[in-house]
Amino acid sequence: MFGLGVAILASAAFTKVVQAQTVFAHFMVQNSYSYSQSDWATDIKAAQAIGIDGFALNIATETPNYEIAKMADAYAAAESLDFKLWISFDMTYNWAEADMVSLVTAHASSSAAYQWKGKPLVSTYAGESQGDSFWSSFKSTLSSAGIDIVLAPAFTTYRDPADASSLLSTFSSIDGFFNWWSWPADVNSLLTTDTDLAYKSAIAARGGPYIMAVSPWQFKNIDGAGDWVELSDTLWNYRWQQAVNDVKPDIVEIVTWNDYGESHYISDINPNVNLGSQAPLYVNGFDHSYWRDIAQYYIEYFKKGSAPAVTLDEVVFWYRAFPKGITCSSGTRPRNADFPADAVFALAMLAEPANVTVSIGSQTTTFYAGAGLTMGSVPFPTEDKQIPYVEIKRADNEVASGYGSVYVDQSGCTYYNMNPWVGRITAT
Ligand SMILES: *[C@@H]1O[C@H](CO)[C@@H](O)[C@H](O)[C@H]1NC(C)=O
Repeated sequence: MFGLGVAILASAAFTKVVQAQTVFAHFMVQNSYSYSQSDWATDIKAAQAIGIDGFALNIATETPNYEIAKMADAYAAAESLDFKLWISFDMTYNWAEADMVSLVTAHASSSAAYQWKGKPLVSTYAGESQGDSFWSSFKSTLSSAGIDIVLAPAFTTYRDPADASSLLSTFSSIDGFFNWWSWPADVNSLLTTDTDLAYKSAIAARGGPYIMAVSPWQFKNIDGAGDWVELSDTLWNYRWQQAVNDVKPDIVEIVTWNDYGESHYISDINPNVNLGSQAPLYVNGFDHSYWRDIAQYYIEYFKKGSAPAVTLDEVVFWYRAFPKGITCSSGTRPRNADFPADAVFALAMLAEPANVTVSIGSQTTTFYAGAGLTMGSVPFPTEDKQIPYVEIKRADNEVASGYGSVYVDQSGCTYYNMNPWVGRITAT
């Protein structure tokens, strides 16, 4: 009897341990217009290389058009690569229930359909204005067709921690919740975890996942679609720390994989994607791919539940190409333009302690960094057209060094751009 009891306890503990934490990335299907199935496979492999388990497919249109067909390619590619997907309806568009039901039905039995506790998960961007009756009808129509889903929407007006209980009393139909808010709310201070903790705790009563958004940046400058920046200078480091140390959500959703227009992409810039006429003015040449190195570290941290060892000395650094006070000849000076610091930001990821120097023009900062991750920065200089230099030095030996490849211009620009360029140096 004693032996059996121990075995049951041990297997219950084991089950808990192997229920791995999940990391998704928000994927804008509208940017897949020119994709073939092999383009999907390329993105999926790049995501898998850093530990991402799946994409939340943000679909914008309600009428059958290219996004529906591209989504089918995504499922085919994901099935062959053992990658997961869920549908994230952009409810700021005018979706009809029948179109949503047919899209969910088309993919619910795919081996790539992500399941939460045995049921396919469906998410959204917004959708609270449709009301609970819309969502309960959507779910019961699917249920009648034999598909029981888990609904985990991002009802974006629910941001105030004080509204968490009214989310549940207003929406009897929701099972989980996706907190979209992964940037400060138009304030010049850091994002807190107050919203995360309140909604995570509230939604636990429904059994569905609490999905926490983690984002590296927010800047948009498209006339008619918005012009703003949010304070994001060190967000990509501290938001992940909030996820792994404080919030510990069921699922992290990286916002985003490929939303170029809002500057929070971590994918390589795909030259096939048509971004219209304005986004390319601040996206082209502003590579973010090395932000994935930081994500890889924290994804491993999140899944293990403890800090992984860094094995390769590296500094990832990012900076804007213009000081915030500059006058540009076109574009709109964005809302909150005074918030970001005029500085080069550098995150050291070290196997062993070292001294890290970041310089630009006449400005130099050296900081001691222990094993693991350490954030540093150096302010922009007053001299025009400077480029940063970054160096890792251990005792008197240089471990790695290198330059940024975008100059910081002090004397004029052609378009308001607060999207950073991201570079790295690594030990060879
Ligand atoms: C960092 O620099 C200080 C001052 O030069 C030096 O004493 C120390 O040994 C350096 N630390 C490492 C880990 O290289």
